[in-house]
Amino acid sequence: MAGDRPMLALLYNLLQNSDLTFRDFVELALYHPEFGYYTRPVSPVGKDGDYVTSPLLSPVFAFAVGRLCREFVNRAGDAVPSVVDLGCGDGELIRALAREGADDARYFGVDRFLGRVSSTDLSSQVSQPAEPNEASTDRATFLESLDRVPRDGAQLIISNELFDALPFARLVRRGEDELHELWVTERDGILDWNEHEAEAAYADYFAERGIELADGQFADISLEWGAMYEEICAFPRRGLVVTFDYGFPQKQLFDPRIRRFGTAAAYRCQRVTRDLLANPGEQDLTAHINFDDLIRAGERQGLRTLFFGRQAKFLLSLGIMEHELFRPSTELEPKSAEEGLALLDRRDEARRLILPDGIGEDIRVLVQARGMGPEQWSFERPPF
Ligand SMILES: C[S@@+](CC[C@H](N)C(=O)[O-])C[C@H]1O[C@@H](n2cnc3c(N)ncnc32)[C@H](O)[C@@H]1O
Repeated sequence: MAGDRPMLALLYNLLQNSDLTFRDFVELALYHPEFGYYTRPVSPVGKDGDYVTSPLLSPVFAFAVGRLCREFVNRAGDAVPSVVDLGCGDGELIRALAREGADDARYFGVDRFLGRVSSTDLSSQVSQPAEPNEASTDRATFLESLDRVPRDGAQLIISNELFDALPFARLVRRGEDELHELWVTERDGILDWNEHEAEAAYADYFAERGIELADGQFADISLEWGAMYEEICAFPRRGLVVTFDYGFPQKQLFDPRIRRFGTAAAYRCQRVTRDLLANPGEQDLTAHINFDDLIRAGERQGLRTLFFGRQAKFLLSLGIMEHELFRPSTELEPKSAEEGLALLDRRDEARRLILPDGIGEDIRVLVQARGMGPEQWSFERPPF
């Protein structure tokens, strides 16, 4: 019933006037200020939510990234450096980094919607270019956009699953040379698909990259991946940009033999489906990103690529195995059976960050740098 589902009512109302591009449908479903998936006050992400991300799966992720923060702060020079989590969600990662990280750094969580960060943390929002809020117990300051982070000092800009949460378009090749864009329409009272000739910008996207889709092949792309990453890279005068995300290099992302149906997926209650039009505003919509777009955009901004590879390798090189949860089980001494079981769960969750059949393999990490010197970083060394 659309009546008790305000997002559906809103969509049906809009669709009376004209169809919506699927890209605009995703924008509304995820980010409508009142009814969007990511604008609810309670985060849909987490172990009990619709899907889980690395920082919410295990605190061991923050432990490993914290080691990178310390290495960065040691190499940052005289001015106080900033550590930024861009697309910080409920702020879990930046709070952990601020708690355990170096004292002589400032910590910022940035998200386009801060309603999921707890109210104590929000008291540290500032309306002028930011200063760290010393009164905040965990020293993290939360802001709505990157340009409010101070630009003095070196900057470590981290994001986790930011780009795969950007609105994306769905394209399909029909016949020899027709590129169609998928639109959303209302048909007999339900949301359904329509196809229109794609906007020139999408045809240009494929032509400029020399990508040829096969007849009937779908592709999910966002023109914002490269544009937004380029803006991020333009920001630090000195620093590292570290991106964790689901995605592939272009050749793999658009390979017709393995990605004939694109990568778009919906997540709800820890289950993945391809029913992208179901439950708008109540399920996550995501697509794997083209990492070549990011690499090129960063290099256009003069950044040097230091690392591109799997999350498992990156975290292992940072020394994740030194966390106590990876110690042999014989060395762990739970005080009760209950504590022992909880410990086993926490060890499994920590392992999932680096195991080859999930997040550890599927998430890739890109690190690009400007002006941080030629010395090798720990993540550039082999893990063992
Ligand atoms: C998939 S969630 C990831 C949250 C968190 N990084 C994590 O790993 O749990 C993506 C987040 O990016 C935020 N986001 C999307 N577009 C953004 C933008 N242009 N600027 C800042 N944050 C954005 C969303 O509001 C959401 O909190």
